[in-house]
Amino acid sequence: METVLDVEKNIIIEEAKAYCELQGLQVVFTHDITHAQLQIISERTKNQAAMYHANVGMLLDRLKNGCYLIVKDGEIFGHIFAHKHVVGKFSVYERSSLWVHEQYRNNNLGLLLMDLLTKHFNKNFLISIAQGATVHHNNELLGMKYITLKDLSPVLIEVLEKLGKLRDELKYKYYVNAYFESKIGQFNKILKTKIVE
Ligand SMILES: CC(C)(COP(=O)(O)OP(=O)(O)OC[C@H]1O[C@@H](n2cnc3c(N)ncnc32)[C@H](O)[C@@H]1OP(=O)(O)O)[C@@H](O)C(=O)NCCC(=O)NCCS
Repeated sequence: METVLDVEKNIIIEEAKAYCELQGLQVVFTHDITHAQLQIISERTKNQAAMYHANVGMLLDRLKNGCYLIVKDGEIFGHIFAHKHVVGKFSVYERSSLWVHEQYRNNNLGLLLMDLLTKHFNKNFLISIAQGATVHHNNELLGMKYITLKDLSPVLIEVLEKLGKLRDELKYKYYVNAYFESKIGQFNKILKTKIVE
């Protein structure tokens, strides 16, 4: 059954797609980006305070999971990658290095990229740790569920903490996709037996 949020999201996504068509922008999924383009993306993540710095090696690693690009005439105007955290025998994915060129901002292309990546990982564990009401609202639009730290395995929290994702529930909110939510009990139980071993 479609919820009010699903309807709202679908309208926004249709608008974003129509905008892309109008502007001659193409959205592509790829595992292949040139070294020169990766260097530009890496520099960008370094220069923008809102983004975590990803060097070319990190981007190459993320590229193995595939990424979505917004392109026009061979130039990249938007991107989103997926960062894989390995937790015990599980892979937990997180959206990363989201960027849309200033020229095309506020036309829902950010949400379009997030939606595509979220759908791509709908049979995988996907987590979003974010600050800011807009991102929380976007996560809700994308069908992700708000969870508290006590719902999460301490093993996962430790992995995230190593990457600078702090245990700060005042500043950050944790969202997981429906697949993660449905398996969270099993996930925590398996990781717990791992600690005991
Ligand atoms: C964040 C960004 C990708 C949004 O692109 P966009 O195409 O304008 O996004 P949308 O049109 O779907 O959404 C617009 C609104 O959502 C916000 N938004 C969407 N996704 C966001 C995100 N992941 N983080 C922060 N803000 C976000 C935008 O800032 C904007 O808010 P405003 O209307 O209050 O200014 C773009 O502003 C950008 O590239 N910023 C610089 C890099 C960056 O901050 N990346 C996100 C790191 S988490």
